[in-house]
Amino acid sequence: MTKKNSCYLTTPIYYVTAKPHIGSLYSTLIADVIKRWYALRGYKTFLLTGTDEHGQKVAQAAAAVNMEPKRFVDSFIDAYKDAWRTFEIDYTYFIRTTDADHIRSVQHWIKQLMDQGDIYKSEYEGWYCTPCETFINETEINDQRQEGQKPHCLSCKRSVEQIKEEAYFFRLSAYQQKLLDFYEQNPDFIVPKERTQEVLNVIKSGLKDISISRKNITWGIPFPGDGHHVTYVWADALNNYITAIGYGKKGQEAQFNEWWPATVQVLGKDIIRFHAIYWPAFLMASGLALPTQLLVHGWIQIDKQKMSKSLGNVIDPMDLYHQYGAEPVRYYLMRHMAITQDSNFSIADLEQSITSDLANDLGNLLNRMTSLAFKNGVEQIDDPGVWSDRALEIIDESWNLIEDVHEYMSEYTFHMALARIWKFIHQVNAYFHAHEPWKLAKSDSEKFIEVLAVTCHSLRVIATLLWPIMPNKMEQLLDSIGILLKLQEQHDLVSDLELTWKGRSFMLKKIATLFEKHEPQEIKEKIEKVEEVDQEPFISIDDLVKVHLAVGAVVVCDEVSGSDKLYRLEIDFGDQGKRQILSGIKKSYASDELIGKQVVCVLNLKPRMMLGFESQGMVLAVQDGNGKAQLLMPFASVPNGSRLK
Ligand code: MSP
Repeated sequence: MTKKNSCYLTTPIYYVTAKPHIGSLYSTLIADVIKRWYALRGYKTFLLTGTDEHGQKVAQAAAAVNMEPKRFVDSFIDAYKDAWRTFEIDYTYFIRTTDADHIRSVQHWIKQLMDQGDIYKSEYEGWYCTPCETFINETEINDQRQEGQKPHCLSCKRSVEQIKEEAYFFRLSAYQQKLLDFYEQNPDFIVPKERTQEVLNVIKSGLKDISISRKNITWGIPFPGDGHHVTYVWADALNNYITAIGYGKKGQEAQFNEWWPATVQVLGKDIIRFHAIYWPAFLMASGLALPTQLLVHGWIQIDKQKMSKSLGNVIDPMDLYHQYGAEPVRYYLMRHMAITQDSNFSIADLEQSITSDLANDLGNLLNRMTSLAFKNGVEQIDDPGVWSDRALEIIDESWNLIEDVHEYMSEYTFHMALARIWKFIHQVNAYFHAHEPWKLAKSDSEKFIEVLAVTCHSLRVIATLLWPIMPNKMEQLLDSIGILLKLQEQHDLVSDLELTWKGRSFMLKKIATLFEKHEPQEIKEKIEKVEEVDQEPFISIDDLVKVHLAVGAVVVCDEVSGSDKLYRLEIDFGDQGKRQILSGIKKSYASDELIGKQVVCVLNLKPRMMLGFESQGMVLAVQDGNGKAQLLMPFASVPNGSRLK
C-alpha cells in the first residue's frame, strides 16, 4: 500500500503496429485490477495507458503498406480504446506519444539534461535491432555468422543492422553506483524480487552511456537544437509516465506532485532493462523520485508455444469477448496466469474455468439461494440476531478470507487471491448443502433464514473482493442481494464488510444468469457437427472465423527445382512477419509479375513439407475457363497482414 492516500498506476505503452492482442490485454488488465483494488479501499486512483507511436519499427510497418506513419498509427487507436472499453479497463488517461503536449515535455526534458551535462554528442557504431528498438552489443547477436548466417538478435531472432551514426548520448555510466545504492536500499523495488538479480548483474557488468537519438530517421520527436536527429524511441516512450501527468508543463506542477512517484508500474519481463535501469537513471538525472514498485509479469503462451505473428497463434481479445464475454476472460487471465511466470493460455482451460468456477461454484450458489428463497416467499432476509456456532464459523472464516486476500493483493499474486476466494466459495457451498435448506424451509423456518443469511453475508464478502476482477458481474450479484457498491474516496469498502455486517438485511432480487456454462459435451458436439459438414451446406460464423485469412505482399518468388508447377513464395504479412508458402501457380504467372502483388492467404493451415520446403499457409486462387489460376487480390491496397472479415 502507498503512503499517500492516492495511487498512480501505469501500463507499458503499446507499439501500434497492430491491434491489441491478448498479451497487451494482460499487461493492461493487471494494472486495472490493482487500480480497482485500491479504489475499493478508498484510494484516489489514476491509471495511465496509451500507445508508443514513434520509432523505426512503426515507420517500417507504415512504409510496408504505403502509409504515412501518422495516418498509420491513427488507424489503430480506436481498436485499442475499444478493446479497453470492452474489457472494462477503467483508465484515467490514454497517452499517445504523438500528442503535442508529450512531444514538448520530452523536448523540455532533453534540454534540461543537456544543460546539466547529462547528454552529450558523439558517435554510435554498432548493432541495432528494430523489432526490439534496441542498440545491442556483440553478445546479444548470434555467433555463427562466420558460417554464413545473417546476424540476428538473440532475443527476437530477427535480423539486425550495423549502424554508424552521429548520436546524442545519455551519461548512463554516471548513474551506475547510484543505481546500485538504490537497489541496495530498496530491495522490494522489483516484484517479483527474484528478477532483481538479473538487473543487478547487468549494472555490475558496467553501464555504458546510451545513445538517445537517431540520425537518418525522421519518424520521432525532433531532437531539440539539432534538426538532423530525432529522439530515440525509448527515451521518448519512458517519459510518457511523467509527461501524462503534467511533467514539464507550466501550471500542472500540483497535479504532477499529486501523482508522482508512481505506485506501481506494470511491465512484461521483456522490457525490464528499460524500466529497471534506464528509467530510474533518467529519473535520477531529472531530480525526480523513483516509482515505488515495478511489477514484472511473465508471458502468455498459447498452447505451450510462444505467441507470435509468424506462428499465426496470436489471440485477438475481441474474438474472446464475442465468444465468452469480457469478465470471464478477465477472471481466467487473473486466475490461471501466475504473474511471476510464463503461463499457458488454452481455450479448453478457459471454458473449463467458466463452467466450473464461475457458473457452477459461484453462479449456482447465488441461484440456489435466491430460487429457494423466492419459492418459499422470502424476499427480505433479516439478521437472525442469534447465530448458531456453525453460522458464526463461516462468518469468521470470511474475515480470515479478507485478511488473506489483502495479503495476496498486496503482493500482486492475483491467482493466489482467487484460489483463496474459491476455497471459501467451496466452504459456503458445502455449508449450504449440508443444511439441506429445502427441507428446513418446511421444518424449521428460523434455521432456514439463518442459512440464507449466512449465504447472503458470504456472497457479499465474495462479490466485494471479486469486484476488481469482474466489476460488472459482481455489481449485479450484489444488486441481487440488495447491495449497492458505491466507491468513495477515503472509504474502505473492504474494512466496511466486517464493520457493518451485524444487523444487516438483504433484499433479494431476480437477475439474469450471471455466467453461461460452456460444457465440454457441448463443445464436443460442436466439433462433431463440423466434421459432418460434408452433407451440410451451411457453416456457422464460428466456423468461418476459424480460418485465418489475411492479405500479404509477395516479396520473393523462386522456382522450386524438380517442379514445373510450384513457386516458393515469401509473403510479407506486415507486423505478422513473413511466411514461406509454396503455391502451384507457376504455369499461370511469371515470377516477376508476382513480386509486390498483394494476395489472400490462409495462415492457420497446418504447415507441410513440399519438395523439401515447409509451406506455411496457402495462397488462394480460382481457375478460369482456360485452366489458368487467377489469384484472389484485394481491389485496392490494404495494410499487409489485414485479416479478412
Ligand atoms: N512500446 C514498448 C513499451 C514502452 S513502455 C514505456 C513495448 N511495447 S509492446 O507492445 O511490444 O509490448 C507491451 C507490453 O505487452 C509489454 O509489457 C510486453 O511484455 C507485453 N506483451 C507482449 N506480448 C506478450 C505476451 N505474449 N504475454 C504477456 N505480455 C506480453 O514493449
